[in-house]
Amino acid sequence: MSEETKQDLADRRGMETKVYQPAEDSGLLAAAVEARGRGRFLEVGTGSGWVAEQAAREVDAVTDVVASDLSPHACRAARRRALGDRGGDADESEQSAIDGRDAAIFDVVRGNLVEPFADSAFDTVAFNPPYLPTDPENEWGDWMEQALSGGESGRELVDPFLDTVGRVLAPGGVVLLLVSSLTGYDAVIDRAEACGFAHEVVVEESYPFESLSVVALTQTPPDPGER
Ligand SMILES: C[S@@+](CC[C@H](N)C(=O)[O-])C[C@H]1O[C@@H](n2cnc3c(N)ncnc32)[C@H](O)[C@@H]1O
Repeated sequence: MSEETKQDLADRRGMETKVYQPAEDSGLLAAAVEARGRGRFLEVGTGSGWVAEQAAREVDAVTDVVASDLSPHACRAARRRALGDRGGDADESEQSAIDGRDAAIFDVVRGNLVEPFADSAFDTVAFNPPYLPTDPENEWGDWMEQALSGGESGRELVDPFLDTVGRVLAPGGVVLLLVSSLTGYDAVIDRAEACGFAHEVVVEESYPFESLSVVALTQTPPDPGER
């Protein structure tokens, strides 16, 4: 990808803040959550918390929401949303401030990918990963880079996510993963299959620089012949 293209993509994704602001990819993930989200819901890499908030407000089938991120700035932003965007002054009792439907409980946890969570804890796990392939010599080394850069391959966060997410998924659960053509769609699907997931495209959209898809990943039952 040219420097110009990368800069343009970065500009559209809110480079001026420390926290990734909702963009086209966030909207696509939210649409997939509306279609397939249910039960106990985890959003990994929540950024501003907007997708998690949509799940809590708009998706009746979602009962509980946990939003997580490695960045303390993102966790603070998501926490403000969970409290009804009261600038952090609200206390726990004000979680009911999220209006709309009888909103799901919305908690925020700081951590790396799915590490903080118990086995089989979630029915749905959604992730819009940092995915821009980045030349190591051009890495910026700040929180916005953490939000955007998928390392040299674009898959440096996607691969460990796929390797570990199955542990926190309840039986019959679903992973909703945003995949960009910039990251290499086939490489992501190959990794998902190697981790025992079947895939299905839930939503997709093409933009001038990339195509975005959200795939639903479900665990394939073990082949009886392999027992
Ligand atoms: C592309 S942004 C997506 C933000 C938000 N989910 C959205 O769709 O608008 C990726 C997010 O992943 C977070 N992130 C990066 N590395 C992470 C890690 N190892 N564990 C958890 N979150 C991480 C970044 O801080 C950033 O907020």
